Amino acid sequence: MTGNDRHSVRRVRVWDLPVRAFHWALVVLILGSWLTAEVLDDALAWHMYIGVTIGGLVLFRLMWGIWGSDTARFAQFVRGPGAILDYLRGRRALDGLRLGHNPLGALSVVALLALLCVQVGTGLFAEDDAFSEGPFNELVSSGTAEWLTSVHKLNFNLLLGFIALHIGAVFYHVLIKHQDLLRAMITGWMRIPANARLHRDASRLRFGGWVAFIVAAAIAGAVAWWVAGRIVTL
Ligand code: HEM
Ligand code: HEM
Repeated sequence: MTGNDRHSVRRVRVWDLPVRAFHWALVVLILGSWLTAEVLDDALAWHMYIGVTIGGLVLFRLMWGIWGSDTARFAQFVRGPGAILDYLRGRRALDGLRLGHNPLGALSVVALLALLCVQVGTGLFAEDDAFSEGPFNELVSSGTAEWLTSVHKLNFNLLLGFIALHIGAVFYHVLIKHQDLLRAMITGWMRIPANARLHRDASRLRFGGWVAFIVAAAIAGAVAWWVAGRIVTL
């Protein structure tokens, strides 16, 4: 092999468009939910609409974890403790480079999605000290609503902690391990050494995949629309 070969790279496709759109929309909307809850005055109505939209996005991602392209599927990236330990000990998969979340990263993806479910779920029943309340607040007693509101506030701090860990981990992989993760989450493509063997080729979204996308997006959109319609603002 010549020195030139060793340094040459090729591009492989890692993330489909729906995963990338989900990710960056989530980042913008979480920033919006924080601004409308903690920074701006009288913005709780906006906060609830943004929160319900985040709920729709997460619902979509859960369905996409079943119907999406190869790297988007939970069955492909959620691994047991054995695989996580092997990864931590630096053992590579024998059948080549795996594209997508690594076993440890997958754990943080699951944690982030679970925390988001709790955040949105509790928000639906939350209330503030004045007139604003989540769309399902009336379905529970005031004691329960108070408790869910405190979980909503506490869970937000947990979410912030995991987001900080997540961004730290991404920069560790990009800056220290020189992995092309950030470009992959933006463009969908990643650069890998030309001679790297892949576990299997990353799949592209084909016609059936786009049909699944439309169905998942329509279901998530309809649920979010219905919930948003129950938001009452004074
Ligand atoms: C509100 C803040 C954020 C949240 C809640 C969040 C959440 C997530 C989630 C849920 C995933 C999994 C994607 C999927 O499979 O659907 C992910 C992946 C990823 N995120 Fe974020 N993210 C946040 C901010 C950021 C920022 C600021 C960056 C860039 C600096 C970033 C870079 C990435 C990258 C590169 C991946 C792919 C990691 C991999 O290759 O395994 N994220 N993020
Ligand atoms: C991921 C999405 C969400 C995030 C990050 C988030 C974050 C927050 C935060 C940080 C607060 C505390 C503000 C304070 O300290 O006073 C808050 C309050 C609140 N949130 Fe959310 N929230 C989300 C989703 C929702 C949803 C879906 C709803 C309802 C539709 C909702 C309804 C409320 C209400 C009514 C309060 C007022 C509680 C109070 O200030 O006493 N949130 N949210």
